[in-house]
Amino acid sequence: MNEEDFKVLVAIEHGMARHEYVPLEYIAKVTNFTDDKLDMILRKLHRLGLIQRNKGPYIGYVLTTFGYDSLALRALVKRGVLERISADPIGVGKEADIYEGVTPSGEVVAVKFHRIGRVSFRNPRRVRTYVGDRRHISWLYMSRLSAQREYEALVLVHQHGVKAPRPIAHNRHVVVTEKIEGVPLFEVPPLEDPEDVMYQVIENVKLAYTRAGVVHGDLSEFNVLVTVENGREVPVIIDWPQWVPSIHPSAESLLRRDIENIVRFFRRKYNLRVDVEEIIKQVTQG
Ligand SMILES: Nc1ncnc2c1ncn2[C@@H]1O[C@H](COP(=O)(O)OP(=O)(O)OP(=O)(O)O)[C@@H](O)[C@H]1O
Ligand SMILES: [Mg+2]
Repeated sequence: MNEEDFKVLVAIEHGMARHEYVPLEYIAKVTNFTDDKLDMILRKLHRLGLIQRNKGPYIGYVLTTFGYDSLALRALVKRGVLERISADPIGVGKEADIYEGVTPSGEVVAVKFHRIGRVSFRNPRRVRTYVGDRRHISWLYMSRLSAQREYEALVLVHQHGVKAPRPIAHNRHVVVTEKIEGVPLFEVPPLEDPEDVMYQVIENVKLAYTRAGVVHGDLSEFNVLVTVENGREVPVIIDWPQWVPSIHPSAESLLRRDIENIVRFFRRKYNLRVDVEEIIKQVTQG
């Protein structure tokens, strides 16, 4: 892949803001390449699986997921954030694929590709809050907004000492963070001190709410990784794209749901019994 190939990819990316399939004439105009040259590059990009061709009435192209991934990765490599990423994902969710990456200085990082609208809208209502009034809702925009939102939350909570992956960079639909060496809470072979872990999670929820002004909004045993630091089990909260600000009209009900999910998990699995109302009071006051 050379600069000219990327120039065509970027032209298609920009054109996708206004076209379902970006017309050939648009790409030609933006890139200023001769017809022959453009034809050659488009064939190459198509062969590599980076773009898809319109089967409809006019010649036009869109990026594939792989094409969009390539643009984000190239930008992150150029900025000196990434040197390489793993061939296989270390985590696959409904709305993201997570790979392990390595930075030029050798740090091992997590590289999260947001994939909203990939299969089906699991929760259309949630998608709409990302998109606002934009007419052109597409997987590309939704995935980019989701990544931007997650990065924003990570910066906010991290500044206020919440245990979450340290944000490193983002570009388009990709967020790069510190890699957590941990096991998801729901999978941990019995915790040694479940009560300690539960109260740490709640303390983090409180810090996020009262200091950072952030409600996670999708907190559960699936979005907490448990690490061990100096012999102590320490929970780290991941997966923040659906956060809302503490002043959001839905903040309190989402905060309640987050806390209830955590309390329910510890009650079911560890038979810990706590008063949810007490915890909510504790989290919201001070
Ligand atoms: N910073 C990280 N360090 C290490 N592993 C991570 C990190 N972020 C995510 N993972 C791994 O990837 C999995 C999915 O991550 P995450 O929850 O952020 O994505 P998701 O697509 O929202 O998942 P789902 O939709 O299934 O909740 C996690 O359970 C974890 O195993
Ligand atoms: Mg998740």
